[in-house]
Amino acid sequence: MTVSIESLLKETRVFPPDEEFSTHAHIRSMEQYQALYDKSIQDPEAFWTEMAQALHWFAPPRDILVEDPPHARWFVGGTTNLAYNCLDRHLPTLRRNKAAILWEGEPGETRILTYHQLHREVCRFANVLRKLGVRAGDRVAIYMGMVPEIAVAMLACARIGAVHTVIFGGFAAEAVRDRINDAKASLVVTCDGAFRRGQVIPLKPVVDAALGQCPTVRHTVVFRRTGDRINMEPGRDHYWHEVIEAVTASAPPLPVEAEHPLFILYTSGTTGKPKGVVHTTGGYMVSTYLTTKYVFDLRETDTYFCTADVGWITGHSYVVYGPLSNGATVVMYEGAPNFPDAGRLWQLCERHGVTIFYTAPTAIRAFMRWGEQWPMKADLSSLRLLGTVGEPINPEAWMWYQRVIGNARCPVVDTWWQTETGAIMISPLPGATPTKPGSATLPFFGIEAEVVRKDGTRCEDNEGGFLVIKRPWPSMLRTIFGDDERFKKQYFADIPGVYFTGDGARRDEDGYFWLMGRVDDVLNVSGHRLGTAEIESALVSHRTVAEAAVVGRPDELKGQSLVAFVTLRPGNPATPAAKHELAEHVAAEIGRFARPDVIRFTDVLPKTRSGKIMRRLLKEIAGGSETKGDVTTLEDLSVLAALRASQEEE
Ligand code: PRX
Repeated sequence: MTVSIESLLKETRVFPPDEEFSTHAHIRSMEQYQALYDKSIQDPEAFWTEMAQALHWFAPPRDILVEDPPHARWFVGGTTNLAYNCLDRHLPTLRRNKAAILWEGEPGETRILTYHQLHREVCRFANVLRKLGVRAGDRVAIYMGMVPEIAVAMLACARIGAVHTVIFGGFAAEAVRDRINDAKASLVVTCDGAFRRGQVIPLKPVVDAALGQCPTVRHTVVFRRTGDRINMEPGRDHYWHEVIEAVTASAPPLPVEAEHPLFILYTSGTTGKPKGVVHTTGGYMVSTYLTTKYVFDLRETDTYFCTADVGWITGHSYVVYGPLSNGATVVMYEGAPNFPDAGRLWQLCERHGVTIFYTAPTAIRAFMRWGEQWPMKADLSSLRLLGTVGEPINPEAWMWYQRVIGNARCPVVDTWWQTETGAIMISPLPGATPTKPGSATLPFFGIEAEVVRKDGTRCEDNEGGFLVIKRPWPSMLRTIFGDDERFKKQYFADIPGVYFTGDGARRDEDGYFWLMGRVDDVLNVSGHRLGTAEIESALVSHRTVAEAAVVGRPDELKGQSLVAFVTLRPGNPATPAAKHELAEHVAAEIGRFARPDVIRFTDVLPKTRSGKIMRRLLKEIAGGSETKGDVTTLEDLSVLAALRASQEEE
């Protein structure tokens, strides 16, 4: 938190909401937004009581919020079940035979699961889990590709009160092992493999490699997707299609306390070990339900497509729980956006008549690079709303998205939130909020956001500072799994009394928030949060490496690219082959998405007298700019010249 933030961006375009859109929207004007927002802040008890009533509770909440700072419990005394709210609740209505999931595999096949069918699949898998000894509170790891069964597995856990931890299918064996062990999972649900860009990505072999060192895992269930030959260990490994045959499709949902843990999701932090962010049932349910309804202005007839992988928080909240609790039709796509060609997503939108499309700025920049001819080839007239999430969107990408994909008639909602926040926190409401390209605009109901200085005082308009949230909200993380001290230290220690997001921001004269990226040692590469420390540990685990420091540098396509400064152990030559080997090593340890883009060998790293690596200097060098600012704490000035020389060699 030593970074001072300078805000340079000035954007003056404003897009008022379309009148026709507003007429039919849930929230139709700024007055309506403001009135509801004020109520949510001034009388949260009344506001959340009313909002929670849209969902089913077996026993109604007694207290809306019980605070024990920095901890907060929501809807205390209430019992509910999220799978019940996503499925059973819809069955006596016209939604019974409505498509819940419209799935498309990369090779081109489609599957449709109605709410009735999805309910049956979830019940059967819930019975499988019970039969394999999973009880309420037990952790189940899910390491799968984007097949409907990933949602089935999550909902089945929720149905029986088991806690899922989904591990993104791009993670390598070591990362999978660490997450399974940290969560102490007793069962792993996986696939034989997944299709991606025409290739088979092996998944079960990765699980096999991890399980050698996962003493808590007793069983795996393997969904057959690619049909590849895999190793199945008798007694431990079970094929999904076999175990599902031996159970019935009736599985009563377990009513759980509102604060019963729903899932753990690992995300990168500033130190090496990923953090197991814990979300609980009631608050997460209400917030994801409500934000999906209002931010996407969801209607019964919508066909909703969020391109995120279910392995990340966006997939949890806005592929699975938010849309399904609203009874929406969700489009789910298995593969790469440019397979077999760069028009794939637009063909998908046309084929399924997608009305709401939610993606990430890194994807939008890729679409821009691939060219307008691809979306032009498809009929995108069904689209009525566009969303973006994951990193700051540059105004040019926003404008392109609005003009080319939205045909200048769809509102764009730039939604700011985090794994920790569980649900969207700052976003336009499309029928009410005038949008400004590059701004996530205004806080959602119940969210009291502020930009402050390091001492906690409020910044002036347009002064860059730290984004904080000043009061608890229903879907906030409850703790870091197994490490409550880290929870307190990470989010509540730097600026007393508030939740610190780790993001820099400014607030303009209209109260609009402009996000400026992370202020800590966490990078945002292609919309994925990566801790520099995790990549550094991977590098240092290679036998040739003595020391490593990883920094980000701005990248047109990926948001940030990874630059690693590496000091080799004596006797190891600094060759291009060595660079390649190290990059591959990181890919094998963490996953390909964490592979450094550039590796620079250096004899020394710039350090303070107390031995801390001066990342600020490395960032400046990586970005090719002059090193400015204070270098008096640098132990050895000649290091800078040496580092620059390493840049010139490149
Ligand atoms: O830096 C912010 C950025 O992504 C971070 C959260 O990353 P993660 O937990 O992986 O969740 C991503 C999906 C919710 C934030 O701290 N971020 C996310 N959305 C935006 C954003 N930055 C600017 N604008 C956004 N809309």
